[in-house]
Amino acid sequence: GEKARGEPPRLQHLALRHRHHPPRPRGPDRGRREATYNPDQWLDSPGVIDEDFRLLPLAHMNSWSLGIFAWAALEPEPGVYRFEWMEQILDRAAADGIAIILATPSGSKPAWLSQAHPEVCRVNAWQGPRLPHGGRHNHCPSSRVYREAVTRIDTELARRFGRHPAVRLWHLSNEYNGECRCPNCLARFRDWLKDRYGSLEALNAAWWNAFWGHQYTDWEQIHPFDYCHDGMILDWRRFVTDLTVDFMLVEKAAVRAHSDQPVTTNMMGHFPGLDYWRLAPHLDLISNDCYPGFSGLADETATMVGAAFDGDLMRCLGNGRPWLLMESTPAQLNWAQDFRLKRPGVHRREMRVQIGCGADGTCYFQWRKGRGGGEKYHGAVVDHAGHDTRVFAEVAEHGQDLTALTPILGSGVAAPVALLEDWQMRWGLETANLPPKQPVDKGYMDEVRAWYRALRTRAVSLDLLPGHGDPSPYRMVVVPMGYQISEDLGQRLISFVDQGGILLTTYLTGHCDAHNRCHLGGFPGAGLDGLLGIRVEEMDGLPPDQTVTIRCGDGLPGLPGLPATALARAYCEILRCSADTEVLAHYDSEFYAGSPVLTRRRHGAGWAYHLAARCEQAFLDALVDSLVASHDLPALCPQRPEAGLWFQERSDGQRRFLFVHNATTQPRQVQLAPGPWRDLISGQAVSEHWVLPGIGTRVLEAQP
Ligand code: GAL
Repeated sequence: GEKARGEPPRLQHLALRHRHHPPRPRGPDRGRREATYNPDQWLDSPGVIDEDFRLLPLAHMNSWSLGIFAWAALEPEPGVYRFEWMEQILDRAAADGIAIILATPSGSKPAWLSQAHPEVCRVNAWQGPRLPHGGRHNHCPSSRVYREAVTRIDTELARRFGRHPAVRLWHLSNEYNGECRCPNCLARFRDWLKDRYGSLEALNAAWWNAFWGHQYTDWEQIHPFDYCHDGMILDWRRFVTDLTVDFMLVEKAAVRAHSDQPVTTNMMGHFPGLDYWRLAPHLDLISNDCYPGFSGLADETATMVGAAFDGDLMRCLGNGRPWLLMESTPAQLNWAQDFRLKRPGVHRREMRVQIGCGADGTCYFQWRKGRGGGEKYHGAVVDHAGHDTRVFAEVAEHGQDLTALTPILGSGVAAPVALLEDWQMRWGLETANLPPKQPVDKGYMDEVRAWYRALRTRAVSLDLLPGHGDPSPYRMVVVPMGYQISEDLGQRLISFVDQGGILLTTYLTGHCDAHNRCHLGGFPGAGLDGLLGIRVEEMDGLPPDQTVTIRCGDGLPGLPGLPATALARAYCEILRCSADTEVLAHYDSEFYAGSPVLTRRRHGAGWAYHLAARCEQAFLDALVDSLVASHDLPALCPQRPEAGLWFQERSDGQRRFLFVHNATTQPRQVQLAPGPWRDLISGQAVSEHWVLPGIGTRVLEAQP
């Protein structure tokens, strides 16, 4: 649905313009505590499934996701179906009040299908050999045979179980990903291009094909392996997303023909290969898989940044609505570099961080460790040793806590700040032939995360906003490395500032349009030069071991609280400023010493800031503190919290719930805004100042 907009709600401590998310009625996706359940691995092991039904309530869980990789168990031979085992599980689940998330099994196909129809397998190198059967997530998404086979099994599932009382949600496939380069996919790419551009003239112009004389005169000449065209590679990636969506919609149609239950598919955070903003509108519920690898052995702020960055994205993909953490692990990861245990309490903190991001359910991969195969050492609720384990006990404790956290269900997050972050920007930078070679995204994701960290560690709630999004509900919008700025986005940002918004852009902003063609007339283009009152004349690219000093204050107007000096790395833009642009910091070394690096300009009722170089985290932190103070931006606590503390808030317009986590192993002093506060788990009143032990986590409610 569209963003719910309306009168800004008046919250007790926050007078802010923000998106308001009215609470939704409680539905089947609320309060899910689920795990991936693979009984298809245990059909020949008497007693195991009985034991699973006994243990699920002991773990304080209420749901399983079923059948994710069960195609071969459901259809052992073409057209021969074995649904009895699944039916028995569903009937028992219904009788026991267990909700089932039913998966379509397209993520892993039966061997007989690949043997009979090799074209269902992927070609992953250009005109390379077709991959043999094996692994998973390995199908050709345009194969007609595969689509028909998937439609048949999905239809059978939905016809039999789509109205079964235990089935409450559809789990379409599993972690859609990857691409295929077979002749079929190529033909579809060309059709996609015809739709997009209409003519080869338009395509040649969009891709700047006069470069190296690459003009096409026939659609058949187009081969998306030609890496000299960044416009083409960018379009290939867009096509891969659209083809994936198309495949997903085949599955959605198959289940929807026989079932009214909502559909989801499990995403993978900031997965580089798919633009999730294009998948999201087709889903009734957003869900995510998140494996941050916490162990509780050190200051895990960086890990928390990564986990919450993904979680906040999921909320925003769903237009602010609660989402579902579909997979996580209560114990170790078998695929990680090390096999460190999660220290006691770490699991609870990890789950609560996701709830703080807007998750209304926390689920696991996997319920029970298998005896063999590639994931037998992956953490699970039920171990090879059974359930009499610390891990099982911690899962059960978290499940019990969730009962006390029920009032949070359905609430949203009121964010005064948005961070503009987009796959299109990332892909634009990845495909641009611009140094450095590594990282391929030119450090884009690190830079976005650095701003996310600076804002979140200052306890500022934020949303992630795509390039097509609406900045107007926010007080401040930060655009790190906003490489692709279309005229339309430029206009939205200009009117945002005009109407009182605070915009902060950084180096490498406004270079290109949506085809990765550079704007002419000086960067940043699309009107941002006039807004910011700057023109980037040149950009210095530094090798990794070099820094440039920058100096703040020093007779310049300055923002309060900025350090006297800081270091810039990687990219240093050399700016020319208009007369009405204030210079807040300048370079202090290199031949461009003395020239501006941090600027701001008043425009309409708002402010437009530009930071022209990549700066250290400490500088971004200080800049955020300063902006929060100077513009009176709402934050969840009065000052920047002690390092390692992490604050989140959910609210439904009336009730406000504050999450406080300690990412370190050491106690931290917590200073809250004026209360009164109540601990949601214990029900006890809580003062404004207290100590949170290492790895600690607490959920409070602001009392009216
Ligand atoms: C996910 C996948 C699961 C399982 C898990 C292990 O990516 O969806 O099936 O493999 O990783 O961490």
